[in-house]
Amino acid sequence: MTAPAFRIENVSAQAGFKLLEITFDLPGEKVNKFSAAVIAEFESVVAELEKRGQAAEVDAVIFRSGKPGNFIAGADINMIAATQTAEEAYTLSRKGHKLLDRWEDLPFPTIVAINGTAMGGGCELSLASSAIIMSTDASARIGLPEVNIGVIPGMGGCVRLPRKVGLAGALDLILTGKTLTGDRALKAGLAEANLAKENFDSAARVWVKQNLEKLKSGDRIAREPKLGGMGGLVGSAMEKTPFGRAFILRKARETVMSKTRGQYPAPLEAIQVLSDTGARYAEKIRGQAREEAMDREARGFGKMAATSISKNLIRIFFLTEGVKKSKGVASEIKTTKVTSAAVLGAGVMGGGIAQLYAEKGISTRMKDISAKALTLGMQSAQKIFYRSLQKRKLTPRSYQQKLNLIAPVLDYSGFGSVEIVVEAVLEKMDVKKAVIKELEGEVHDECVIASNTSSLSISEMQSVMKKPERFGGMHFFNPVHRMPLVEVIRGEKSNDETVSRIFQFAKQLGKMPIVVKDRPGFLVNRLLMPYLNEATWLLQDGGDIEEIDETLLDFGMPMGPMELIDEVGVDVGEKVAHILHEGFGDRMQPAPFNSKIVGAGRLGKKNGKGMYQYLDSSGKKKELNPEIYGILGISPSRGKISREEMVDRCILPMINEAARCLDEKIVESANEVDLGMIMGTGFPPFRGGLLRYADSLGAKTIVEKLKKYQARFGARYEPAPALIRMAEKGETFHRD
Ligand SMILES: NC(=O)c1ccc[n+]([C@@H]2O[C@H](COP(=O)([O-])OP(=O)(O)OC[C@H]3O[C@@H](n4cnc5c(N)ncnc54)[C@H](O)[C@@H]3O)[C@@H](O)[C@H]2O)c1
Repeated sequence: MTAPAFRIENVSAQAGFKLLEITFDLPGEKVNKFSAAVIAEFESVVAELEKRGQAAEVDAVIFRSGKPGNFIAGADINMIAATQTAEEAYTLSRKGHKLLDRWEDLPFPTIVAINGTAMGGGCELSLASSAIIMSTDASARIGLPEVNIGVIPGMGGCVRLPRKVGLAGALDLILTGKTLTGDRALKAGLAEANLAKENFDSAARVWVKQNLEKLKSGDRIAREPKLGGMGGLVGSAMEKTPFGRAFILRKARETVMSKTRGQYPAPLEAIQVLSDTGARYAEKIRGQAREEAMDREARGFGKMAATSISKNLIRIFFLTEGVKKSKGVASEIKTTKVTSAAVLGAGVMGGGIAQLYAEKGISTRMKDISAKALTLGMQSAQKIFYRSLQKRKLTPRSYQQKLNLIAPVLDYSGFGSVEIVVEAVLEKMDVKKAVIKELEGEVHDECVIASNTSSLSISEMQSVMKKPERFGGMHFFNPVHRMPLVEVIRGEKSNDETVSRIFQFAKQLGKMPIVVKDRPGFLVNRLLMPYLNEATWLLQDGGDIEEIDETLLDFGMPMGPMELIDEVGVDVGEKVAHILHEGFGDRMQPAPFNSKIVGAGRLGKKNGKGMYQYLDSSGKKKELNPEIYGILGISPSRGKISREEMVDRCILPMINEAARCLDEKIVESANEVDLGMIMGTGFPPFRGGLLRYADSLGAKTIVEKLKKYQARFGARYEPAPALIRMAEKGETFHRD
């Protein structure tokens, strides 16, 4: 028999009133979650409380967690993933409702004392309690992130949250999946108290004692929600009228549609559930009305859980969890947290990398050969920290402390004690080799050295080193503070320890690493370039720039390929396209239009003109560059190329190249391709990743289509041998 997850203690003597404390501490797990077994155990806890309540033995119950930094992580996602049909998921949700309704109906106040993350089901248990007390600890956060896995809150969150924080406030939380700290939750009317993290447990008891009468009478203690989300545009007054509520719901729908282009059904379903169940938001909901509202929520939950979109998002969740547990190599290697690191080069990437180190509290040295570059590097780091300061994610003191962690230097002073150095100097092999050789003489023997190169050979760089085994690639994406992926490149001579230390360091920096082989373009650029290149070929074949972008946005890409070319820099893209052409031959033949655009000095966003022209300094406002078609000597028109062809011609070459990458073992598994493309390029998560999407098409269809395009366009569409094999055998990239 396993140890119980819940402990009930009578702490009346210490508290000075009849108080029970329930501690949730799931044995053998880092976090508390609601699995089927836990729910069954919690049912007996509630039954026990019901019994004691009848005997009037209890004034109040405090529910707390025994896990440091975690209150409840939510429902066990395996349980949701295991549901096969909408009906099964509906039943699961109704079971959760029945249990939390009983908790809510206990004849004495129940108070949650949150001293860690309270997500999903953890937030919903809190909402069904009489009061929520949160600690000031940074780890204490509350939220409903269900939309991130393609479902809606299914344990009463959609019904209870708006009654507490208002309709707009609830929509803001449910539709974004964001979490609130204690002070934010207090302001939003979600938490009743935000108590100092020191002596939190005893302070919670004192608070309950002081507020016992109010708690017993059911009077509202939390502040009335004044301003909801949605930019604070909508206030509680507006929510009181049916017209106002309809307006808020309509605005929410419009926002979701413009953000997701309708590709994610869960936020829309959540809005519908809130609309259907919220006749009188301000009132507590009990009895038959509660029953009906919960039933409606469960139907919505069931419908969403059964979608392939939810299954795909859950799969990605598990893939990222897998990376969190991985060390990047098969052998058992122990690494310690890095406390001191350096970066060479203070340019676009070096400045970003230094900022990231400092953000994570690492003592940082940033070296460049140019004082001007150092100043610019510091400025770009400062800008990012300043945004956090403005958003109140940093206090003025921590803002300054973080900036102070970066030491801009023109020489190698202090390099003798750093644990890892990433070079991010010019993308030129001879410069890199000279820099790495020099650097090796300045650092201690155990220091790991990595290159942020996006296209040069790691193994060739190793040729100039005394200890090449300590060297590998650490390829960040631009902008460093936003892009989650890091490719960890194993050079021919890199040893396991180096690969693992770079991998773990990437995780320490909050990034998602994947280990890739040292071949041109590594994984992500090798797959992304054919996509961008084919988009340019489409333009050459008469495609309209804006229509190409709209089509791929509709497919789910976060940015159209034409805009992405501008973002990367038309010249940078051209350079990489030629490197890949050299590396892989005719299937990577660059579209000649690229050099024409570069030749005309239209380099993209960085100089204000490329495919588009950028109308403000932030680059957000843009319109089609009116000169572009003239430069290229073409007059394209909408509809000339079908949208199906546009999607095929951009996406199929990526799949084709990915099949080759797997054959060459650039990465070990189709899962890594999926994760890499989602994290590195924003490939639509709802499609489950590039190769999950490929599986949904089937290898046979892909090969047939590629052959059709090969007949028209030649080698660029020649099906990969692996795909032909899969088509013949009826195989898929993923086995599950
Ligand atoms: N820009 C991107 O989008 C991107 C993305 C991923 C990887 N990368 C890679 O990152 C590296 C840097 O790219 P970037 O865009 O930041 O370039 P950048 O031109 O903005 O910056 C390069 C910096 O290196 C400095 N430098 C030159 N020689 C040096 C030396 N001997 N010692 C120290 N500093 C020296 C230069 O003064 C300059 O400040 C390249 O290898 C590039 O391929 C770039």
